[in-house]
Amino acid sequence: MFRKIKYSDQYLAKTLFKRFLLFVFLLVSVCFGFWYWNIFQAMMHGQFNWWDMLPIGLSILVTVVFGWSLYWFYKHYAPKHTDIFSRYLKRIELRQMISLLVVSKGFFDIETTDNNTYLTYYPKLKIKVKHTTGQLLIEEPIDGEKYMAQFAGGDFDQSVETALLADRQTTEFMKNKMISTFAFEPIKFRRQLLALQPQKGRLQLAKGIDWKYDTFYNALISGNVGTGKSYTIFAILGQLLQLTKYVDIIDPKRSDLASLKYIDALKSRVHSTPTEINQAVIKYYQNMMARAEKMEKIKATGKIGTYKDYHFEPCFLVFDEFGAYREMNDRLTFSDPAYEAYQIAMSNLNEIAMLGRELGFYLIIGMQRPSADSLPMAIRGQLNLRINMGVPTPEIEKMVFPDNDKQLRPLSSQLKGWGFIKVGDSQVRAFFAPEVPKEFNLHQWLSEQIRKRGQV
Ligand SMILES: Nc1ncnc2c1ncn2[C@@H]1O[C@H](COP(=O)(O)OP(=O)(O)OP(=O)(O)O)[C@@H](O)[C@H]1O
Ligand SMILES: [Mg+2]
Repeated sequence: MFRKIKYSDQYLAKTLFKRFLLFVFLLVSVCFGFWYWNIFQAMMHGQFNWWDMLPIGLSILVTVVFGWSLYWFYKHYAPKHTDIFSRYLKRIELRQMISLLVVSKGFFDIETTDNNTYLTYYPKLKIKVKHTTGQLLIEEPIDGEKYMAQFAGGDFDQSVETALLADRQTTEFMKNKMISTFAFEPIKFRRQLLALQPQKGRLQLAKGIDWKYDTFYNALISGNVGTGKSYTIFAILGQLLQLTKYVDIIDPKRSDLASLKYIDALKSRVHSTPTEINQAVIKYYQNMMARAEKMEKIKATGKIGTYKDYHFEPCFLVFDEFGAYREMNDRLTFSDPAYEAYQIAMSNLNEIAMLGRELGFYLIIGMQRPSADSLPMAIRGQLNLRINMGVPTPEIEKMVFPDNDKQLRPLSSQLKGWGFIKVGDSQVRAFFAPEVPKEFNLHQWLSEQIRKRGQV
């Protein structure tokens, strides 16, 4: 049910709180009615005792305790719980927030006469909260009134996004109004790692956020130490392995990903020493060029299209800790035999980033700081799926989400594996990576995904 937002809703929580306190005080006083009557009669007989003040003191005390509990519920309990009372309090907070936003943006008119101020216009706004999906629907007026342009242009929606740390999902225009849908509880969109179901050309990241790798080719997963980059990569990797056997894995830090060489099916596809890595990149590039040649032959007959149209399989190079790889190799001296291989590998990577889309050779890069020295601009410009785990520093935000205008704030202090995501040119959205269960065994899960291959 949509609920109308009123000018006075900006004080909604405070008003309801005061009414509640008054109600409790009156209720307690009524309960003490018999006591008061006794005291009154005693006074009529000229007796007065300081203890007679007790019921008033008790009423105040009970009211204070109730008031304090309600305040605590509103501030600390309701945000974390989903019972009916918490939902009610959350709805109050949202109504108040939306009303406040209208006021702070000045989308209303008042008229002042000598002794009074009247509200002459307040926009017809309605909201509906869908608790189960964590969505907020706002109906905004497109009715020819004064502030219509600001609503239609998304100015108001942008403030809602900032104020609620919500992501706008859709905007639907109807006669005289528009309805914008926001996701205000990103955790509700989290997927479970074990339930991920990839399809050809489409990997699942969160509910409503899929990665269509053919369109938004090449991915970057950045973020500070321990924010969940590698776990996010596991979720992507498991899905890729379900779709294709052409997945190469690089892990210069020899952590979890490097250990995948102990899975038989991946033995020759995991690379972790500097020499192996350079070779793997060069080989990947050569395979790409071989495909380019094959495709050129087909195209010579006049056919057009990309690799999919010729029934080639997509290939993926999953490169975690890319920054560490750069650092290790940048220390090499000119005369070192590995230096040349590194130079070739880097120039190949540039080309893969550029040409890979049409040929079906994709890159997935994980690194902490994608600065210009560690990630060449030629590659960065070709990364269409961008994820930053954790809140990016302003400097990193400029690199990963250069034209973002939304304020990015922490999503959770207790949970791990959240960040922000941008697919292609769309807006930056809050994001929880697929949840990895407690007793999780990476090798076992990946082996299962490999077994599922061919069945999708
Ligand atoms: N999606 C998730 N589900 C459950 N737990 C997670 C998730 N993501 C991260 N974690 C927790 O956070 C820890 C760090 O995650 P991860 O190793 O992926 O971070 P990282 O960004 O790769 O760190 P580093 O920079 O050290 O490589 C994990 O050990 C895990 O406990
Ligand atoms: Mg890692």
